[in-house]
Amino acid sequence: MNQYHHSGRFSGLLIAAAIMLASCADQAAPNDSTTPSAKAQRIAAMKQVTDQHSFARPEEARIVHLDWSARIDFDARTISGTATYDIETAADAQRIVFDTHELTIEGVSVDGQPAEFSLGDAQPFLGRPLSIPISTGAKKVAIQYTSDPGADALLWVEAQGDKAPFLFTQSQAILARTWIPVQDSPGIRFSYDADVQVPEGLMALMSAENPTAMNPDGRYSFKMEQPIPAYLLALAAGQVEYRDVGERCAVYAVPELIDAAAYEFGEMEQLLLAAEELYGTYAWDRYDLLILPAAFPFGGMENPRLTFATPTIIAGDRSLVALVAHELAHSWSGNLVTNATWDDFWLNEGFTVYFEQRIMEAVYGRETSEMLATLSYQGLVDEVDAIQDLNPDDTHLKLHLQGRNPDDGMTAIAYDKGYFFIRLMEETVGRARFDAWLSDYFATYAFKGMDTERFVDYLKTTLLSDPTTLAAVNLDAWIYGPGLPPNCPSVSSPRIQNVDAALAAWEAGETSTADLPWNDWVYQERYRFLSNLADDTSVERMTELDNAWEIGATGNNEILFAWMEQAVRSGYQPAYPRLESFLIEVGRRKFLTPLYRAMKETDQMDMALAIYKQARPGYHAVATGTMDELLGWE
Ligand code: BES
Ligand code: ZN
Repeated sequence: MNQYHHSGRFSGLLIAAAIMLASCADQAAPNDSTTPSAKAQRIAAMKQVTDQHSFARPEEARIVHLDWSARIDFDARTISGTATYDIETAADAQRIVFDTHELTIEGVSVDGQPAEFSLGDAQPFLGRPLSIPISTGAKKVAIQYTSDPGADALLWVEAQGDKAPFLFTQSQAILARTWIPVQDSPGIRFSYDADVQVPEGLMALMSAENPTAMNPDGRYSFKMEQPIPAYLLALAAGQVEYRDVGERCAVYAVPELIDAAAYEFGEMEQLLLAAEELYGTYAWDRYDLLILPAAFPFGGMENPRLTFATPTIIAGDRSLVALVAHELAHSWSGNLVTNATWDDFWLNEGFTVYFEQRIMEAVYGRETSEMLATLSYQGLVDEVDAIQDLNPDDTHLKLHLQGRNPDDGMTAIAYDKGYFFIRLMEETVGRARFDAWLSDYFATYAFKGMDTERFVDYLKTTLLSDPTTLAAVNLDAWIYGPGLPPNCPSVSSPRIQNVDAALAAWEAGETSTADLPWNDWVYQERYRFLSNLADDTSVERMTELDNAWEIGATGNNEILFAWMEQAVRSGYQPAYPRLESFLIEVGRRKFLTPLYRAMKETDQMDMALAIYKQARPGYHAVATGTMDELLGWE
C-alpha cells in the first residue's frame, strides 16, 4: 500500500466512489473509459494517490471535458469567461471541488440551473477550493469567472513602439488555477474545446489544434481531443506569424523573429522522426513551436501540440536545438505518461532528459550527446553539493513537497539524477532490451498518471524482474536515498576532456590565449571552458579572452550567460552594460538566478538591486518569486 493511502486529508474518501471511478492516477483515454470491463481493469490495477497540491477529490467527482469560452482583455489584464465541464460522479457524490487561485467566481450552474457554491480559505501556493454541491447523475457544471490582473500564470507584455502586445500563460506546476477554475492535478485529465476572443490584430494559440493565420475579428476556436492534465493548458496571444518547417512541424513567432526561427528549427521534423523511431508513434498529430517574448521564465514548456520556447535559443547556428528535443520528448514522457503528483516530477523530467539525449544521439551522433551528458553530470554534481547539506531529502528522486511550492522540486535532481538513473538501467540490461521496455511502458501507460511507487512495482515485474539485475541497479538508493549512488554511470567525452586540459594549461600559464582552439570549439566546449574558469580569474585575463574572441558579442545566449557570470565574479566591468541590458530583456530564470546570485556573492548588491528594480516589472511571477527571495526584495 502506498504512503498516500492513509494521509487522511479527505476524511470522506468514498469507497463506493473509488470503485465507480478510475483513480486520479489511472485515467484512461476517452475511448475505453466507458466500457465496464475497462473500468474494472483500471480499478483492479489502481492505487489511490492523493495529490497534496490540489483540492479536487476525483474519487467523488471529476472533470472529463472542458468547453471554455473566454475574452482576453489587455487593458484590464484579465481573462473572463465561462468554463463548462462535463463531469463524472460517484454514485453518492455530493459535491465537485475545483482549484482556484485569485479568481473571482461570478456564478455557477449545474446542468443548466443556477447553483450554490462556496470558496474555502486561501492556502499558501494552493489558492482556494471552489466547492459546488451536486446531486446524483449531474452531468455539466458551468463556472463564470474573471482572473486577477496579477494572476501568476500570466505575463502581459505591453505594446512598445510598433510592437504589438503579447500575453502568454505558464501553467506548470499549479498555476492553471490562476486563469481558469479547474481540477488542477496532474492525475486528472480532460479533453477541451475553446472559443477565445482576443483584440483585433492578434493571433490566439493554445495547446490544441491551432489557427495558421490571423483572424481579422480576433475570434479563435480550438479543439484538443486527447485528454490532458490542467498543467498542460496553455494560451498565448500576440502578433505572430506561422511558417511550416516540415510536414507536421511549424514555427510561430513575431515578424522580427520568424525567419531566424524557421532557420534555427529547420530540423524539427527530423527530431520528431527520430523520436518516433525510438519509442513509438507521436500521439498528438502536429508538433509546432511558439517563440515567446524573452520574458518567458523557462527555456521551454511542453504544451501539447505547441511547445512554448524562449527566443534565447535562437543562436543563428542551430546549436541550442537540444531544448526542442527535450520538449518534444515530453510528448511521450510527461504528456502521455504523466507524473501523478509533483512528488513524482522526476518521472516526467528524468525520462525526458534521457529521451532528449537519445534523440540528440540519433540525429547528431554520440559525440554530441556525450558532451551534453557530461555537462549534465557537472550540473548534477554541483546541485548535489548545493542542496545536500541544506535539505538532503531534496536530493531524493521521490520528493515530499507537501506544504511547499512544487516549484521547489525543479532542481537538477529530477532532471539529471533522473537521467543517470535511467541511463544506469539502460546500461545494466543493454540498450535493445531497454528500448523495447521503454516503448512498452509508454504504450501501456499512455494517457495515464504514474506515481513513483507504482513505477517501482512495474519495474520489478518487467525490466528488473531478475534479482541480480535488480540488486545491481539498487533502486532504493536512487529513488529514496540522498546524493549520487556509487553505481552512477560514468560519462566520458574526449572533447570535453580536451577542453578541461586546455583550461588547466591556460590557467597555469603554460599556454597563451592565442593557443586556445576557441574557433574550433562548438558551443558545448566553449560553455565548458567559460563556466569552469576559476572564480578569481583576473580582470587582465578576462580582457585577454574578450579581446581574442569578442565573447560579449556572441549570438549564443548560453555562452553569453557563462561569460557574464564570470565577468561578475571577476569584476570585469566592460561586460556590465551587456549584463544590464540582458537582465532587462531576458526573464529566463535559469539565467537570472546565477547572475543575480553572483552579484550578491561578490558584494555587488547595489548593482543587483538597481538592475532588478528596472527589470522586475517585465519578469514573470515564476521568476520574481525566486529573485525576490534571493535579493531580499520587498
Ligand atoms: N516542463 C519543464 C518546465 C517546467 C518544469 C515548468 C516545472 C514549470 C515547472 C520543461 O520541459 C523544462 O524542463 N524546461 C527546461 C529546458 C530543458 C532543456 C531542461 C528549461 O526551461 O530550462
Ligand atoms: Zn522538461
